[in-house]
Amino acid sequence: MFKTIIEPFKIKVVEPIRMTTADERRHILKHARYNMFGIRAHDILIDLLTDSGTAAMSSEQWAAMMRGDNAYAGSNSFYRFEAAVKELTGYAHIIPTHQGRAAERILFSIVGGARKTIPNNTHFDTTRANVEHTGASAVDLVIPEGLQPQTRHPFKGDMDLARLEALLKDMSPGRVPLCMLTVTNNSGGGQPVSMQNLKATSALCHRYGVPLFLDACRFAENAYFIKLREPGYGEKRPVDIAQEMFRLADGCTMSAKKDGLVNIGGFLAMNDARWAQEARNLLILTEGFPTYGGLAGRDLEAIAQGLREVLDEDYLRYRIRSVEYLAERLSAIGYPIIQPPGGHAVYIDARALLSHIPAHQFPAQSLCSAIYEHGGIRTGEIGSAMFGRCENGEEIPAPMDLVRIAIPRRAYTQSHIDYVSEVAEHVYALRKSLRGFRVLRQAAVLRHFTIELEPV
Ligand code: F0G
Repeated sequence: MFKTIIEPFKIKVVEPIRMTTADERRHILKHARYNMFGIRAHDILIDLLTDSGTAAMSSEQWAAMMRGDNAYAGSNSFYRFEAAVKELTGYAHIIPTHQGRAAERILFSIVGGARKTIPNNTHFDTTRANVEHTGASAVDLVIPEGLQPQTRHPFKGDMDLARLEALLKDMSPGRVPLCMLTVTNNSGGGQPVSMQNLKATSALCHRYGVPLFLDACRFAENAYFIKLREPGYGEKRPVDIAQEMFRLADGCTMSAKKDGLVNIGGFLAMNDARWAQEARNLLILTEGFPTYGGLAGRDLEAIAQGLREVLDEDYLRYRIRSVEYLAERLSAIGYPIIQPPGGHAVYIDARALLSHIPAHQFPAQSLCSAIYEHGGIRTGEIGSAMFGRCENGEEIPAPMDLVRIAIPRRAYTQSHIDYVSEVAEHVYALRKSLRGFRVLRQAAVLRHFTIELEPV
């Protein structure tokens, strides 16, 4: 009846934000060598670097944590966690891990290796790194619309079925040990995968005897997009849609730091008993015994509760709308953004916005720096510092220079977001005066975490 969608929670615990001035922040930026990872949280007003591990937990989650049982083997908390994950996914074997990439490392240690190929709509960077670390190749097969920032399509995370079929036909049996589908597709802008595409991908994989695994980090946001956009799902509950999604696949990797609504944790889940046994053996090597997997009992309890809360329809309506609200504001100012916005973040096309800064001078870094300098807001570069590389002293830019404004779950209110758009408007007016950067120092791999820059 009313058009204002309120935050469907009230605040019981608060964390003060330290105010800083633009002068202070210019100094802080210089000291951090213009790398957003080099800035201390103490010096940030609004932290939109990631939606991972940054959620505010509910009173029910904190209450559940007090029940945490830290028995080394067979902890009560494990059985509560296992029941919650089984109810959601339907998978037979549930293996806790300390976060998503640990699940990836274990899974690909079992199925990867030289001459193997793992298709995905788009591999997240840790997924790709874990696949490639085993000698296997990671192939991205998202539909063409998924790579066109301005093209509107309701499910830009969909798998390109024709290219997947060609790959499966081309490869001799056994060379594709499994196929992944990332919901929502983070590297492609947080874009959802439709149920129709999930069904078709599942059927195609199974026709070739290939199991399908979900990278399920943002499964609840994906389920809600299906409810909003896919015919036949409008009347269904998000929990029913999520259960249907999981049941079309044979297993999943999960970073509970996103749609688990927790600050740490993840899991690997599957139906195959043989792979599960191998996974548990590897788990013991580095994560811990299979009933805790590197987590404390309280973490398992918080995940079990978070997985239920995240499917609450009022929460999801607010969540998806609040990201869309920011996208509308930025778009109205004139920012070129990936359309439509994803479930967890808005992505600005910095290369298009700052066309006077050549790609080898890191336009997305320039925009991140300006947003921090003028408003104390930290955003993330997903561009040439992250995916470009330096060869013989020459910078090879990434295909796109994006700035990701990721929204932590339940952590900020609408007035924080209004402040973000006000800062963005100020920076937009200054855009022609922003300058590019050159590299002072960099590491050989994953350079964006530690790269040091200076203005050109
Ligand atoms: N898969 C996807 C799609 C992700 O977005 C992430 C993490 C992971 C796997 C790895 O999970 O961090 O728990 O090990 N994404 C974070 C981000 C880091 O900022 O997008 P993790």
